[in-house]
Amino acid sequence: RLTVKLPLLPRLAVLGLLALTASGWSVAAGGAASSPAPTLGDALFPGLGQLGLDVQHYDVALSVDRPGTAELRGVVTLTLGSTRLLPTIRLDFTGPEVGAVRWNGQPVPFVVEAGAQKLTVTPPASLRPGETARLTVEYGGRAGTVTDPDLGLDLGWEGVLEAGTNYTLSEPHGAHSFLPSNDHPADTATFTTRLTVPAGFTAAASGVEDLIAEGAEARAGRHTFVFHQARPIPTYALGLHIGHLERVESPAVPVGPGGAPVVRRDYFPMGTPDRVRAAYRRTDEMLRALSGWFGPYPFAAYGVAVLPPQVDVPALETATLSTMPVESSNEQVALHELAHQWFGNAVPLRRWADVWLNEGFATYAELLWTEAQGGDGPAMVRRWYARLQSRGTRPLVAATQEELFDSTAYQRGALTLHALRLAVGDAAFRDFLHTYTARFSGGSSSNNAVDTADFLALVRERVGAAGEAAVRPWVFDVGLPPLPVGEK
Ligand code: ARG
Ligand code: ZN
Repeated sequence: RLTVKLPLLPRLAVLGLLALTASGWSVAAGGAASSPAPTLGDALFPGLGQLGLDVQHYDVALSVDRPGTAELRGVVTLTLGSTRLLPTIRLDFTGPEVGAVRWNGQPVPFVVEAGAQKLTVTPPASLRPGETARLTVEYGGRAGTVTDPDLGLDLGWEGVLEAGTNYTLSEPHGAHSFLPSNDHPADTATFTTRLTVPAGFTAAASGVEDLIAEGAEARAGRHTFVFHQARPIPTYALGLHIGHLERVESPAVPVGPGGAPVVRRDYFPMGTPDRVRAAYRRTDEMLRALSGWFGPYPFAAYGVAVLPPQVDVPALETATLSTMPVESSNEQVALHELAHQWFGNAVPLRRWADVWLNEGFATYAELLWTEAQGGDGPAMVRRWYARLQSRGTRPLVAATQEELFDSTAYQRGALTLHALRLAVGDAAFRDFLHTYTARFSGGSSSNNAVDTADFLALVRERVGAAGEAAVRPWVFDVGLPPLPVGEK
């Protein structure tokens, strides 16, 4: 389906730039012979993102009048930077119908390419490296759909009608079902999120809640909840929740940079039983244990949002607010999602093929926690190994979308770290982890992401040839390397 909506005057001029290509309509770049702006070129998701585009911030205002349905209205303003001359901006988007697009406040032409899942905007002048611009998109209607390559479930904006609940579950590429975005983890950004819901509903989002802004925005019959996610995160890690939720605050935990307090809040659907809540009673201890191994907790808040019992989906490490189905409400999964706040959220992927750098590290964290409890670490290592023996395995870099979340990413990834730890010892391993999180987390520019080559280079730099020799077979061999043996 193709929708073209243009302000009246520029319409004729811009239609002159439209060219019909094999894949549908596209806007000719700057009027020159036309190929659409190049994507980020991710080998597993070749359509995602735009090369050279650097979204620094998303100001997201979403209104939901009937929670649980797919309906939403959005006004999103992106602060754009670029690393190359961009005559057009080509965002990922399959969301509700776009009504208007503005460039620094002025209406500009746009084209929705439904097949390509893109929203293309032509600014008055090319965006130059070093410049920034504000791009506003207004839209409303039903959220779009993006299908998970692996599980066949819908990603992105979800609703549970009976529960009056909406939530996001976007990894790897579902965020553009509700958010016009450069939908790839290599372009992380900060977020301000305003969620407007009918009175009686509660909204939650990644980041720290802004009670002062909320007071200013309250209107009769509706409530606007405001959140600031001040450190950059990947688009898929933006967590949003609307429902009949209870917000439970706990004492802050001093595990941020320099011992800064981390705000603790969890959200539970009203009536959530104690046995579900019990999985989250030890978050404070988990934060302390993991920050000891990984370095300071990277964000200003942490907690979980538990989904209503009707929902059967995997847990997801949405930033500062992990999204937890009832089924996954146990300590091991809770710990795993917490570990992703470092690995995946603060340290983002440069390309999806290296997702083991998320899943392997988060799985290894389960072992570190088990050991800290006096549990049986070696048994856990043997279970991982047995799983790979029975399911088969592959080199760590994924070759297809289907491989992204397989047991190689999780268990072989974890065993890679175990091999490193046994080769170099706990002190050097801890130093490696601290350096890894410090070096690769942070900025919103596309340089602050990690891939397998970065991992190997840092192993060489911090722990030398012995460490590198221990991990290389785990990274590269087609078959399963021998189980690493040692004290642990
Ligand atoms: N990152 C999630 C976790 O392990 C897994 C999400 C699985 N997603 C998927 N699209 N198959 O915590
Ligand atoms: Zn995970």
